[in-house]
Amino acid sequence: MNKKTAVITGAARGIGLASTKIFLQLGWQVAMVDRDTEELQRVADTLENVLAVDCDVSVPEQVASMVQKIASQAWQIDALINNAGVADFGPLQETDFQRWRRVMETNLDGVFLCSQACIPQLKKTRGSIVNIASISGLRASTLRVAYGTSKAAVIHLTKQQAAELGEFGIRVNCVSPGPVKTKLAMAVHTQEIIDAYHDAIPLNRYGQENEIANLIVFLCSAEASYITGQSIAADGGFESTGVGLPALRTVSESD
Ligand SMILES: NC(=O)c1ccc[n+]([C@@H]2O[C@H](COP(=O)([O-])OP(=O)(O)OC[C@H]3O[C@@H](n4cnc5c(N)ncnc54)[C@H](O)[C@@H]3O)[C@@H](O)[C@H]2O)c1
Repeated sequence: MNKKTAVITGAARGIGLASTKIFLQLGWQVAMVDRDTEELQRVADTLENVLAVDCDVSVPEQVASMVQKIASQAWQIDALINNAGVADFGPLQETDFQRWRRVMETNLDGVFLCSQACIPQLKKTRGSIVNIASISGLRASTLRVAYGTSKAAVIHLTKQQAAELGEFGIRVNCVSPGPVKTKLAMAVHTQEIIDAYHDAIPLNRYGQENEIANLIVFLCSAEASYITGQSIAADGGFESTGVGLPALRTVSESD
């Protein structure tokens, strides 16, 4: 029997790599898609049942070649994980059009393009798509005009895709991670931001790659067969809370 195939963008490291490893443990094969050619090859060489595909998800021609490369292996596509992302934190007035586009082209255009390109294959397998947004797409904050807006758009794009693709048996869901200490996050999280997240998260800590990846893999599984159009946060409770946690902690400490 053919192995199931997951196509994971941004798979060379971080959440994408953690998801790759869980799919492999469950007996799937994984097309690892990334534009960091060197890192992708280095990591793929250490794994079995993977296909490394060098591709920038924001470039339509490269996305078309990526799908062709997977098809040329006679691999079907059972799941697409639109995980590739970039972060750029800056004040609204310093975010020029070039910075705005750099974020949008990967975080939003990439999700649109990869999904579009994989739909014919997903129709054949009645597979699923998981888009990776962020808590920054759920709640606005400082410095995230481009990043937060791109991720909010991904949450809505998920619903649009679920609405149209349901009749083909394709489920589309979205995972919004809370902060995880990956290369992407550490490039933009100052100590001040790290402290603010600890204060605002009921579980009082950053998440780990696997804690996000487990949810991604679940949404692609048969156990999630009636779940579509949903956005689920794996965020230690960040989205569910408002003001008051730091004050509550001060009171608890003095008990
Ligand atoms: N780490 C966090 O705190 C956090 C929080 C919320 C959401 N997210 C989201 O999770 C996803 C994964 O992030 P991560 O933290 O694992 O980051 P990461 O930087 O560790 O990994 C991202 C990967 O995506 C690749 N990539 C970036 N742009 C690409 C493009 N145009 N084409 C192909 N590959 C590209 C990078 O080369 C890298 O390997 C992103 O969408 C990110 O926005 C992360």
